[in-house]
Parts: sequence; C-alpha cells; structure tokens
Amino acid sequence: MEYKQLIESRWNRFTWNYDKEVSKESIVEVFKEVYMNVPTKNQMFPYYVTLYKNDDKQKRKDLVTICHRNVYKDIFTDPGNPQMLAPWIIGISFRNVDELEKRYDPLGDIWRSDDHIKQMNSFEAGMLSTYIILGLHNRGYDTGLCQNCSNDPEGTMKIINSPTPPIFLLGVGYGADDKTYLDPRTNEVKNVPYNIDVAESSRKKKFTEGNPSFTDVFRL
Ligand SMILES: Cc1cc2nc3c(=O)[nH]c(=O)nc-3n(C[C@H](O)[C@H](O)[C@H](O)COP(=O)(O)O)c2cc1C
Repeated sequence: MEYKQLIESRWNRFTWNYDKEVSKESIVEVFKEVYMNVPTKNQMFPYYVTLYKNDDKQKRKDLVTICHRNVYKDIFTDPGNPQMLAPWIIGISFRNVDELEKRYDPLGDIWRSDDHIKQMNSFEAGMLSTYIILGLHNRGYDTGLCQNCSNDPEGTMKIINSPTPPIFLLGVGYGADDKTYLDPRTNEVKNVPYNIDVAESSRKKKFTEGNPSFTDVFRL
C-alpha cells in the first residue's frame, strides 16, 4: 500500500469480521519483517511478542473482564474494550536484557538507572508496536490497541501464555464497522466506545477540541 494511504486508512478497530480468517502464517510473516527491520538498541530486543489465538470463550470473557475501560464504572455501564474479542491477540511484555547490555558496555547496568532502562525499553516497545500495526495493515489486517491489561498484567500473562506480564495488547483481525457489540461480561449489547464515524471526525477535529496543536507538539 502507498504510505499515505496506509497511515490514513488505519483506525483503532473495535469490532471484527469473523467470516474472514487471518492465518497464523500471515501474522508470523509480519513478525519476521519486523524482526529484520525494526530499530533495536544494540540488537537487544528488550521485549517479548506473544501471539495468542483468542478462540476460547471463557478466556475471551476473562480477557475482556481484565481490560475494563473505566474503573469508576461497573461492568454494566463500562463501555469495555471490545477490540479484545479479536480473533488474534498480540501481547507485548518486557524481557530482561541486562546481560546483553554488558556486551557493549561492561558498566551498562550500573550507569543506567531503572528509570532510564524503563524509558528506553518502552521507547523500543512503542516502535515495535508501530511496525507491527503498519505491517499488518499493509496486508489488509486491522488492529485494536489496548493498555487496560494493566488492570491485571499477571492474569493477562496467564491467559495469553506470555513469558512476562504484558503492558500492551493488540487485537488483530479484519475490522468490522459495527456500532454495537455483545459484551461477554454481561451478555448485553453495548455501543462500541468510539464508532467509525466518531473516529474519523475526531481525527480531523483534534485541533479544535482543546488538544495540543501541531506547533504545541512540533517545535519548529
Ligand atoms: C499506547 C496506546 C494505548 C492505547 N490504549 C487503548 C485502550 O486501552 N483502549 C482503546 O480503546 N484504545 C486505546 N488506544 C487507541 C487510541 O485511543 C486511539 O489510537 C486514538 O483514539 C486515536 O484513534 P485512531 O487510532 O483510530 O486514529 C491506545 C493507543 C495507544 C497509542
């Protein structure tokens, strides 16, 4: 896909078309592309990327339950994170690379504060996620981002079988434009948090709604 078309056609998706299947092989192909090309400091890859097929009904409900959106709401009023009902879930979690760091700098783990390590590892995880999201989208697959696994990283780790507690999840599949979904927590139909109409206008209106302007962000 042409680059501008690629970035403009990506939206955070909340509902999925289950009639069309995304194969494991095609996601692994993206992972291999990312592994070869994503920037990584000193070739350390300070993260794990766990691929999980989200086809177990109970575990799907458990994942949506963990990924509660608004803590001040109960399960009946919480809009939820329905993107976690995607056919595939990708979990990003941290991997300890202290020993690898010493290959290039024997004092690496001494001068680097915990904060600095966390910052750089988070930077890398963000860059990695972007490459995965765009690599998938370039093949026609959609993604829905979710950080609410932070409500229970250990529980999320067990569900998706990741080696360390995930900090960030991606739902992957063919996106649907449904404005409602069946919340497995309550078995009730709810509105998706942001439907595609709102998503489109919110991207265009971002400068008029009290959000940072272009020059607030980009210092020229
Ligand atoms: C680090 C990060 C975490 C996010 N976590 C969530 C989340 O927990 N739930 C959610 O619905 N969207 C989440 N999003 C998606 C944003 O809400 C979304 O990107 C934003 O609303 C802009 O919409 P767009 O991506 O469709 O342009 C996250 C995005 C980022 C970058």
